[in-house]
Amino acid sequence: MTVAPQRPPSIVGNGPAVHAPRQAPPPHPARSVWARILGRPTGSTGDRPLVVMRHVSKVYPNGKVALREVDLGIPEGDFVFLVGPSGAGKSTLIKLLIRDEIATSGDVILDGQNLARIKRRAVPKVRRRIGIVFQDYKLLPQRTVWENVAFALEVTATPSRLIRPAVDRVLAVVGLTGQARQLPATLSGGEQQRTAIARALVHDPRLIIADEPTGNLDPLISWEILQLLLRINELGVTVLMATHNADVVTALRRRVVALEEGRIARDQVGGAYHRED
Ligand SMILES: Nc1ncnc2c1ncn2[C@@H]1O[C@H](COP(=O)(O)OP(=O)(O)O)[C@@H](O)[C@H]1O
Ligand SMILES: [Mg+2]
Repeated sequence: MTVAPQRPPSIVGNGPAVHAPRQAPPPHPARSVWARILGRPTGSTGDRPLVVMRHVSKVYPNGKVALREVDLGIPEGDFVFLVGPSGAGKSTLIKLLIRDEIATSGDVILDGQNLARIKRRAVPKVRRRIGIVFQDYKLLPQRTVWENVAFALEVTATPSRLIRPAVDRVLAVVGLTGQARQLPATLSGGEQQRTAIARALVHDPRLIIADEPTGNLDPLISWEILQLLLRINELGVTVLMATHNADVVTALRRRVVALEEGRIARDQVGGAYHRED
């Protein structure tokens, strides 16, 4: 198995660190529907929706309605901030995308695949197309930085001769080559999060989903993490980041999707953290 056989040169792939534009997407049979959903401007570079949510609602078993009739399209190449107060449904939306939870109604479509219809055993394969980053890093404490990143490939039975160069490259991308042999406990918070980002990237995902990745970091380090995510996005990876960090969102003027009580209250290209009108 190669890391990404059908894709253009990537940040973790072979060859020089030059990014070729993604090939033109094949025409999609449901294109007209998707185009309608994506009717609002997105400011993205790609035109193929990687994520489509159609009328998605999520009711937890205890009756709590976490998402209500959410319609969202994320084209390839987009950088999206998912904002909103605590309890608004941000993490639920993310859990639906990584199929940690299943929508109560509506469709969640990742790269053309309806996540409600895939079999349980196919879930890991779908998740491999996504890199996931959490607020609390979720690193393995007994393993080094290098091993934490390599582990993500080992569990997918990647041949060991491919693991070493892939891990080395991705650690270089996040600037952790010098810390490769350290255990997580010996790293700063920012370094731990960069390790988690390296682990998320090593599969060469199309999409990075980060749930409050700077939630435990001070402002300066949060900016470093944002710079890294922006750079990864420039290299062609779509990024969806849930955050409470108003300064960062307002300063960067990217697409802002704001949830309030489970509904999309605002979806604005170049938006600030708070509504400005
Ligand atoms: N497993 C669960 N069971 C019941 N209610 C939940 C569960 N997970 C989240 N909720 C509720 O759903 C709502 C949305 O939560 P969440 O998606 O975590 O919001 P956010 O990430 O924006 O803070 C909240 O009211 C939360 O308490
Ligand atoms: Mg949350």
